Amino acid sequence: MLRDSVRSLAEAKIAPFATEVDEEARFPQEALDALVANDLHAVHVPESYGGAGADALATVIVIEEVARVCASSSLIPAVNKLGSLPVVLSGSEELKKTYLGPLAKGDAMFSYCLSEPDAGSDAGGMKTRAVRDGDSWVLNGVKRWITNAGVSDYYTVMAVTDPEKRTKGISAFLVEKSDEGVSFGAPEKKLGIKGSPTREVYLDNVRIPADRLIGAEGTGFATAMKTLDHTRITIAAQALGIAQGALDYAKGYVQERKQFGKPIGDFQGVQFMLADMAMKLEAARQLTYAAAARSERVSLAAGKGGKEDLTFFGAAAKCYASDAAMEITTDAVQLLGGYGYTRDYPLERMMRDAKITQIYEGTNQIQRVVMARNLP
Ligand code: CAA
Repeated sequence: MLRDSVRSLAEAKIAPFATEVDEEARFPQEALDALVANDLHAVHVPESYGGAGADALATVIVIEEVARVCASSSLIPAVNKLGSLPVVLSGSEELKKTYLGPLAKGDAMFSYCLSEPDAGSDAGGMKTRAVRDGDSWVLNGVKRWITNAGVSDYYTVMAVTDPEKRTKGISAFLVEKSDEGVSFGAPEKKLGIKGSPTREVYLDNVRIPADRLIGAEGTGFATAMKTLDHTRITIAAQALGIAQGALDYAKGYVQERKQFGKPIGDFQGVQFMLADMAMKLEAARQLTYAAAARSERVSLAAGKGGKEDLTFFGAAAKCYASDAAMEITTDAVQLLGGYGYTRDYPLERMMRDAKITQIYEGTNQIQRVVMARNLP
């Protein structure tokens, strides 16, 4: 039921703007409005904080269905989860009440600030500093590749509080867009997901109250990694949705397109391509759903976020599904031939959008590092 209702909504209210959002590289406000009106913009927020209380699998299904028509729009529910999960997992009761409520209502969005210009794969090499000053923390630094930056009201920012301790000297903070000293770089000019703004976030002597520390001092890196264990599954969901959109389109096209006197779908060469695409997609979906089930087991509501085998499964789902999405969208373009290569058809957009899923929330090379360190 959830899938059917999100699919109808996505087709009616989000799909009509997907091409325009991509071509004009503009934020999909129509998608945000439709998602908020139907309480689908941040479904993961627990009911106790005013949210829909969706489990990880339901969240995956929502993201999948939105990504099937517009990948940029699917970053609304996905990054709302990424940005707010540090608060859900490790934040004080006060922080949860203050910040999850507006997110659940659709009055505010969240972004996640881990990466920096010189700290991407090596997230622990970050330079952004947070220094305690009386009842405040003062933050200075630059965060890079921040999804939905400028649109979001709240930012979870990882910063160094003890430079001697490397990853154990990193802490997590809640920064508001309206805090003095917060500003944004120009939107990056990207290959895909053009409707979702990616910008630098500048922190220039940003003074925040001490109680905006998320969890204990020195636990920020672990919180950031625990968060990614859960949210890499939402990137897998995004990849599944993009791939499903491409497969559905190609499947229809090969029945219409006639060459040599019959639909090209009657040729075995084309049938084999479609069979491979559907097989890879289903394998990726099963792995993603298995990972989502594990995400649930580490009990978000209890705020435990234990490692268990989630770390492996989160990385594996994201890695496998994003590679599958890249292959499937590339083959879908191929099935449309010259038409697939033009902007008159949505497939080149889907192929461009798929690429990022192999890169963000950790490159697929880093996913393999993570998997190798956490073999089941
Ligand atoms: N759960 C809980 N704690 C964890 C953890 C996990 N999954 N992973 C690490 N930790 C903690 C542990 O306390 C660990 O210490 P112990 O080994 O003593 O337990 C500590 O963190 C340090 O861990 P590592 O030694 O493994 O750290 P490392 O420096 O070797 O880095 C890494 C590990 C996996 C390479 C990590 O840096 C990484 O994931 N890099 C990729 C970063 C990334 O994914 N960035 C994405 C940015 S977000 C984005 O793209 C989103 C967007 O906008 C859409």
